[in-house]
Amino acid sequence: MVCKVRLCKASEVAPGQMLRIDATDAPPLAVFNVDGSFYATSNVCTHNIALLTDGYFEGETVECPIHGGCFNVKTGEATSFPCEKPLRTYAVVRDGDELFADV
Ligand code: FES
Repeated sequence: MVCKVRLCKASEVAPGQMLRIDATDAPPLAVFNVDGSFYATSNVCTHNIALLTDGYFEGETVECPIHGGCFNVKTGEATSFPCEKPLRTYAVVRDGDELFADV
């Protein structure tokens, strides 16, 4: 089942920043701002249990804080070892200053 989840305000995530989203009706999510465009992914590393928003974000890449594996936040592709399984991504819909995702 797909449901529309409110993520955050667009103004809460400046370009180059990421934000942890703890919605009551959704799995742990992360929102990333890449040059003014917003992307949402699962916030849980696919290698093991770690929150990606505790790691590092630069360009289109988020780096896990535990073993340093990386993902492309636009596509979810695992881009460096030890991550191999892609990260789940969610399309972000903007309504004014509010961001939503179908989860
Ligand atoms: S838990 Fe993320 S790279 Fe290992």
